[in-house]
Amino acid sequence: MAVRNMKTTFLQVFLLIILSALESYAALDARYYDTTCPQAEQIIAETVLNASMHDPKAAARLLRLFFHDCFIRGCDASVLLDSTLQNKAEKDGPPNMSLAAFYVIDDAKAKLEKACPHTVSCADIIAITARDVVTMNGGPYWSVLKGRKDGRVSRAYETRNLPPPSFNTTQLIQTFAKRGLGVKDMVALSGGHTVGFSHCSSFVPRIHNFSLMHTVDPSMNQEFAQTLKQKCPSPNKNGDAGQFLDSTASKFDNDYYKQILAGKGVLLSDQTLYGDLRRRGFVESFAKDENSFFTEFADSMVKLGNVGVKEEGEVRLNCRVVNN
Ligand code: HEM
Repeated sequence: MAVRNMKTTFLQVFLLIILSALESYAALDARYYDTTCPQAEQIIAETVLNASMHDPKAAARLLRLFFHDCFIRGCDASVLLDSTLQNKAEKDGPPNMSLAAFYVIDDAKAKLEKACPHTVSCADIIAITARDVVTMNGGPYWSVLKGRKDGRVSRAYETRNLPPPSFNTTQLIQTFAKRGLGVKDMVALSGGHTVGFSHCSSFVPRIHNFSLMHTVDPSMNQEFAQTLKQKCPSPNKNGDAGQFLDSTASKFDNDYYKQILAGKGVLLSDQTLYGDLRRRGFVESFAKDENSFFTEFADSMVKLGNVGVKEEGEVRLNCRVVNN
């Protein structure tokens, strides 16, 4: 009898989990603003295009912003809240110090508040912006699901839950799995490093005093290591210096995977994609076939955009502060 009760309870809990997963998925809709703000995507696209023309660093920063938002408290724009006297917010956590493209979101939000007041959430603006920068730089287009609500909590210390570049394969797989993202999603999303830049601090441990046996990480192409050493001569202080994450860093393409095959992944977390049998096949296939990378990247970005989505919450009037 007790066993049957346990089974029933287990089944009920299981069904509840499935139902709540389906509900949070169902809450998002590609046509969410069709009647309330049909011009929303157009306004955001124009803002992103304008920013990219004046600020070549903006595109990569905006793509990374989406990842950092969704991985902490779900895609709820918690990364956009400013710190207050009482609270140090996510954007002031160490991994977010170089995000620096918040002004583009502010600009889009200001225009959206004029066109359709109190309608488009900051979390949706981040998601649409991430898609736009990918498409505008030569990558795939996908239909962004919308209807996220904005959160009211943002804590700098929680950014320690973002994966650091020193993570090994198992740690990376676990971090993504916690958010419902599989190995293929992880390899495809890491392809976001086809655009942008890394400061020396994120990879110097690979090129100076790597281990007792090796000064330089043996998985790195040794000529490439010399190039990186010239750019980052010190193991500690290298200021703003660094390296682009692939050899065509302003273009969204599959060059990132080709560089990994050549031992030229900049971050340890990039290069370990190839050192591990669970992921090597995906790296090889994305390096060979750009279309398959594009298809999987778009698919995984939709999944990333579903992480921890809030149905309850608010549409902030200003993305930097919660509503009164
Ligand atoms: C797999 C786990 C990941 C790790 C460990 C990681 C780590 C990093 C690090 C350390 C940097 C350099 C930051 C700096 O030095 O300023 C960086 C840059 C970047 N990351 Fe990731 N990342 C990961 C996944 C992702 C994902 C999933 C995306 C987006 C889909 C992404 C997009 C970017 C972009 C676009 C940049 C360049 C930013 C710029 O140029 O300002 N990353 N990442």
